[in-house]
Amino acid sequence: MRQHVNPLSINFKQIERIPSLKEMFGNSKLNLHLDIGCAAGEFIFDLALVNSCWNYLGIEIREKLVKNARLKVVEREIKNLYFVFGNAHNILNDVQSEFIIKNLKSISFNFPDPWFKKKHFKRRVIQPEFINILSNSLQKGTLIFIKTDVKDLFDYMDYTILSNFYFKTIDEKDFNYSESFNPNKLKTNREKYVIVNQLDIFERIYMKI
Ligand SMILES: C[S@@+](CC[C@H](N)C(=O)[O-])C[C@H]1O[C@@H](n2cnc3c(N)ncnc32)[C@H](O)[C@@H]1O
Repeated sequence: MRQHVNPLSINFKQIERIPSLKEMFGNSKLNLHLDIGCAAGEFIFDLALVNSCWNYLGIEIREKLVKNARLKVVEREIKNLYFVFGNAHNILNDVQSEFIIKNLKSISFNFPDPWFKKKHFKRRVIQPEFINILSNSLQKGTLIFIKTDVKDLFDYMDYTILSNFYFKTIDEKDFNYSESFNPNKLKTNREKYVIVNQLDIFERIYMKI
């Protein structure tokens, strides 16, 4: 069982330098997807290898995972994948990252840490202030995908996002995945585990309006 990292720790207040899109990617003009809490990054490695017409950016708070993922990117010479280390909230709240938010086509929050105790809810990655930061800078039409196996966390995230007037729900039935960041509906590690163990999955898509 892994130790959860406390995202509110003072250690994450200072963020690393965020390079420009040109430094991150071979072709900075491609559609950009951000995966928040990407762990070792297997999901976006898989996506980047199959979908060469998208750029993928992962943010992860566990530094070792980011270091290893970066080494793998270099070894495999993958040009459409980049990893940033830190608390996603602090990174995207920093003026250096404004260009990232403005260029995003979509964001995924896949199976975020649930932080079950009420006193720890403030450690959950989706927070009203965080959604405000996104709504202030995202382009209209940008999509947010959330997925979890914890119903209470799903309700919390759904309520938090929809409390912001600039997001509306997209009906999954009307959604054309073929043009999305994940046309083949690849699964994250946690999702594979959840499917094998026949647990429920709660998911929703939102659009910035
Ligand atoms: C349960 S894991 C899910 C990993 C992966 N998304 C999946 O679906 O398999 C949640 C991940 O989010 C990371 N995380 C939690 N809070 C974060 C934050 N504020 N910023 C960045 N990453 C965070 C954790 O370290 C962990 O790797």
